[in-house]
Amino acid sequence: MDRSGVNGDDLRDRVEHQDVSLFDQIPALLEVDDRRSLLALHDACAKVHGAFSYLEIGSHLGGSLQALVRDPACDAIASIDARPTWMPDEGGITIAYPDNSSARMLRLLGDLPGASLGKIRTFDVSTTQLSPVDLGLVPSLCFVDGEHTDEAALRDARFCRAAMPDSGCIAFHDAAIVYRGIAQFLRELDAEAVAYSAYFLPATVFVIEFPQAKLRDVEGVTSLILENYRGYLFSLQSNDRYREFFNHWVFREWRTLQRRLLKGRLERWAARETAEKLGQTTGSASAMTHPTQD
Ligand SMILES: C[S@@+](CC[C@H](N)C(=O)[O-])C[C@H]1O[C@@H](n2cnc3c(N)ncnc32)[C@H](O)[C@@H]1O
Repeated sequence: MDRSGVNGDDLRDRVEHQDVSLFDQIPALLEVDDRRSLLALHDACAKVHGAFSYLEIGSHLGGSLQALVRDPACDAIASIDARPTWMPDEGGITIAYPDNSSARMLRLLGDLPGASLGKIRTFDVSTTQLSPVDLGLVPSLCFVDGEHTDEAALRDARFCRAAMPDSGCIAFHDAAIVYRGIAQFLRELDAEAVAYSAYFLPATVFVIEFPQAKLRDVEGVTSLILENYRGYLFSLQSNDRYREFFNHWVFREWRTLQRRLLKGRLERWAARETAEKLGQTTGSASAMTHPTQD
């Protein structure tokens, strides 16, 4: 038993069985399937590495840290969060984060049974203002969930890559939003001929692991990869608003008008072509009937 009466083995068991109620105490901006995926990666790290360190970019209230802070298998946590009061988002909206502070996050995490706050280091900056050596740890698992723009996801991924060994793993949240940043990161790895494996976990988690990590071979992760069809549909549905926007009656009417205008232009063009051809034929016919005289 630990100091709060929570049995460490019980916690490990709950992580292994993807008990999403581990995320119940602190509000987390994660779908239920995301919670399962994060627990599966967490559990796989514990199984592959024994003890491991974790890096998170974007922690807000600490929702995504609540199982890790309680699990002794996770021996160090670095939380990078620039703590802005609002954040741009590639989805076209701006998200407000009032009272956004590390102090509030640590207070909430400290209330969890068995939480070990001593292993958390917080950095109230963005990755542009930090060097990987500043972290004081080498993460085996990184979770990228900070600013939801392609540019930020790309620079955070580069930071994670620089901070981790060849056995590390980077998980991106909300891949359906920052997919261009992820795609560019993969292009960079390909250009450098870096070996990796990439896969998708429901609902929105895109994972890149470097070859020695082998997390995907651990049962919990393997079985979630087989369920990633749900994440595929979830991602498409989460982008439905763009489809609905372009199918609004105003845009439908506009498209109909464009089609009519185009049709009219094509008909006028075809009529002109025919007239010109006819003119040429008549011209040459009359040239044959009435040859010009020198
Ligand atoms: C979606 S929330 C994180 C949610 C958290 N991971 C969870 O699951 O509950 C995004 C966080 O990214 C932080 N953030 C915004 N811009 C950032 C930046 N440039 N660098 C690092 N963190 C940033 C925000 O302060 C916010 O706390």
